[in-house]
Amino acid sequence: MDYFPAFMNLKSRECVIVGGGQVALRKARLLASANAQLVVIAPDICKELKNLKQVHTTHQREFRDADIDNATLLIVATNDTKLNEYISRLAHLNNLPVNVVDNPSLCSFITPSIVDRSPIVVAISSGGSAPVLARSLRARLESYIPPEYGQLAASMGELRAQVKSKLPNERARRIFWEKIVNGPIAKQFLRGNQSNAIEQLHQAVDSTDNAANVKTPGSVALVGAGPGNPDLLTFRALRLMQSADVILHDRLVSPEIVDLCRRDAERIYVGKQRDNHALPQPKINQLLIELAQQGNSVVRLKGGDPFIFGRGGEEIEGLAEAGIPFEVVPGITAASGCASYSGIPLTHRNYAQSCVFVTGHLKNGTVNLDWQKLANPDQTIVVYMGLEGLPNICRELINHGLADTTPAALIEQGTTPQQQVITGDLNNLAELVSEKSVTAPTLMIIGGVVNLYEKLSWFSVANK
Ligand SMILES: C[S@@+](CC[C@H](N)C(=O)[O-])C[C@H]1O[C@@H](n2cnc3c(N)ncnc32)[C@H](O)[C@@H]1O
Repeated sequence: MDYFPAFMNLKSRECVIVGGGQVALRKARLLASANAQLVVIAPDICKELKNLKQVHTTHQREFRDADIDNATLLIVATNDTKLNEYISRLAHLNNLPVNVVDNPSLCSFITPSIVDRSPIVVAISSGGSAPVLARSLRARLESYIPPEYGQLAASMGELRAQVKSKLPNERARRIFWEKIVNGPIAKQFLRGNQSNAIEQLHQAVDSTDNAANVKTPGSVALVGAGPGNPDLLTFRALRLMQSADVILHDRLVSPEIVDLCRRDAERIYVGKQRDNHALPQPKINQLLIELAQQGNSVVRLKGGDPFIFGRGGEEIEGLAEAGIPFEVVPGITAASGCASYSGIPLTHRNYAQSCVFVTGHLKNGTVNLDWQKLANPDQTIVVYMGLEGLPNICRELINHGLADTTPAALIEQGTTPQQQVITGDLNNLAELVSEKSVTAPTLMIIGGVVNLYEKLSWFSVANK
């Protein structure tokens, strides 16, 4: 992050604007919306600026050093490059936050694009590199966040102290507010039924009872986080991630996805490299039980889908035996993600009428599959965890009757900006792969459908 986002209280604070034209007017309106007291200095000051209610003083003259003596914040909006540089230097020497409009190198702060649903305010910045993009994002958020959110937030703010005294327990308060935000009362606000909604909110606060909330039992959600690209999370996954007390995640879950979890949630890395688990599986199973028994809502985040080569079944077996409430949220498995993002359909009328998922890694390090059944030319084979065994897998399939010209692909870090696809056939894929430096995770797709890659591949740098 080049700039640290923070919200400043400027109410009744003196903010100095050097410049009297339309640009200065724009910035003055922005500061006025935060109820700052504005001092404007310029030889010429436009009429609208003079008439702005929050403009407290105008000095119709050149800038003087002493003008910043009482300032909390300084905006420079003149056409005089030398003057802008001079004032910026002076402000830096005095540790005064300064923004020189359209000149990031002279600024100690920049002004973001804003979605104002006061008291909810969303600020977006591109660090000065792409303001048009920031504005376009703002436009999207404007339509996504209805104005009624402001009223909902204001009403919640009014009742905050009352809820705090009724529910001294922090977790109980969070659960209470989550119910409000995700329940019918928030919906009433968003539908515009404000007086009803406010009345119901007051009733909810009046009838809340500490003990009932604190005793909410813990639970575990086994959540599929998909193949790596955060865009491929499900809504349910995201919602649970954002309300969890504790998150257990492993190597296959990308840091971008872990970053989407509730900021205050405890995050526990449980590792899981192929033969190098930071926490052995039985300990993970036990930890899930203990955390839930302590009353936490636990999210166990797993790469792809929890029930496909993910040992998800083992993790919830223990929960079922211990009587812990749990749910399972499906995720996009690597086979679907890699197939879609490489443009290799898993089935196709001309090439494959069935598709099998197999693991290329067995407990004792061997690959021991039913080669006879796999060696079917009308079938797509997807091999998870097959990089190490790749030469062996290709050889066995040829030995059991598949043509050595059967197309095969290795997809590396599928769906992510680092995705690479290596295509060949059963005869040469191992050699092609050995010539490149390949980074896990990788997935192999074998069968006629791989022929479609050339035509259907769509995920290029432009899409990343
Ligand atoms: C332990 S399995 C977990 C599979 C996961 N539960 C799923 O449904 O995708 C890990 C294997 O999934 C495959 N995999 C997961 N994510 C992948 C990705 N983004 N690109 C390629 N392969 C991936 C690799 O074969 C990796 O070795």
